[in-house]
Amino acid sequence: MPKATLLLTGGLGYIGSHTAVALAAAGYDFVILDNGSNASVGVLQGLQKIIGISPEFIRADVRDAQVLRDLFAHRKFEGIIHFAGLKSVGESCEKPAEYWDNNVIGSLTLVREALNAGIKKIVFSSSATVYDASNISPLREDAKLGTSNPYGTTKLVVEKLLEDFARSQGLQVVSLRYFNPIGAHESGWIGEKPSGIPANLFPYVMDVATGKREKVSIFGDDWPTPDGTGVRDYIHVMDLAEGHIAAWEALSSGKLKTHQDFETSCNNESRRGTNVASSCNQEGLFFACNLGTGCGTSVRELIEVSREVTGHLIPAIITSRRPGDVAAVWANVSLAQTIFGWTAKRKLRQAVEDGWRFKSQQT
Ligand code: NAD
Ligand code: UD1
Repeated sequence: MPKATLLLTGGLGYIGSHTAVALAAAGYDFVILDNGSNASVGVLQGLQKIIGISPEFIRADVRDAQVLRDLFAHRKFEGIIHFAGLKSVGESCEKPAEYWDNNVIGSLTLVREALNAGIKKIVFSSSATVYDASNISPLREDAKLGTSNPYGTTKLVVEKLLEDFARSQGLQVVSLRYFNPIGAHESGWIGEKPSGIPANLFPYVMDVATGKREKVSIFGDDWPTPDGTGVRDYIHVMDLAEGHIAAWEALSSGKLKTHQDFETSCNNESRRGTNVASSCNQEGLFFACNLGTGCGTSVRELIEVSREVTGHLIPAIITSRRPGDVAAVWANVSLAQTIFGWTAKRKLRQAVEDGWRFKSQQT
């Protein structure tokens, strides 16, 4: 008997597929709904090798209300983990309409149909990008919010949308603000496959290690950081995946349910995150929480560990800063520790080793 059945929108993608593995290991049943825009059904074979069965998969778009209505009429879901969306900062600047349509309209359609079907619990894939660039790390959930590109804006707008539905219609939401997921499942059978030239550091470094690209450009070595290069909070994707289970269990157990309970259990953490229970609807809640390691790693450090793990030279040159970049971003993770009882367990080196295993098996 599964613990619960969850719908994973975007479950064929990088984070969704790893979360599927973690859910299966924890005794959950799930259905993947994905339009395939940034993933292939080959992921299902990888999942089958890892978990032993082929997951149930529906090729569909979250903006298709009729598909959702039919699905919810025939299947019972205790909740939804909503990964589906577009995620490239650069592309969002070129095609903002696609980002608003996919991320915002997609989330609105999903939530509306879920509520009509009586599904009230949702875990949302948010991002550290919702924090204003002026904040000093480590970032707490009550840091100033603000965005500098359409992708980030859609994430923040969806958080606000979910918060409004929590207030007025009893939706119960955990919004997980991911820091920088890297690596792959230790089997090497699933991992991150960016389309085109990778915009993010880790997949780019892996491409250079395989010889697919010539060298890494380090975007500035004059940042106010210990070695002058940018610092980020790189989290093993399996730790991130397990963070979703912890978040779901906190949500479904009622642990987050009322503001009073929340304040009692949080003590001095009570002003962290946002809990909107009881303003209009007694049931509703919106709880935002960071998922990171709480440690910063510089570009140079990540390249150095990658050199050690892969045994390749990984040539790197210093170039100018990337527009819109910030020096250092890492998470304060005490809210996830206190409330979910979750903490990232895997070291950076393991993330690089597992990411490299996946990459090596692809080439
Ligand atoms: P991904 O692109 O690998 O996965 C997203 C999946 O959603 C893909 O399989 C894609 O085919 C599917 N999809 C896209 N639009 C859809 C739609 N309208 N209907 C149905 N399926 C759709 O991305 P990911 O890295 O796994 O990210 C998952 C979520 O986490 C995204 O919402 C992303 O914005 C967010 N996020 C990612 C990162 C990161 O660094 N990877 C960081 C912060 C937040
Ligand atoms: C990116 C996204 C952000 C998202 C986050 C996690 C951008 C502008 N921002 O930010 O919205 O939430 O990923 O997925 O894309 N770097 C290099 N050379 C490279 C690539 C990156 O030096 O070729 C440096 C960057 O300057 C930064 C660090 O590496 O210091 C990490 O960059 P990246 O992987 O793009 O992540 P974020 O900057 O955190």
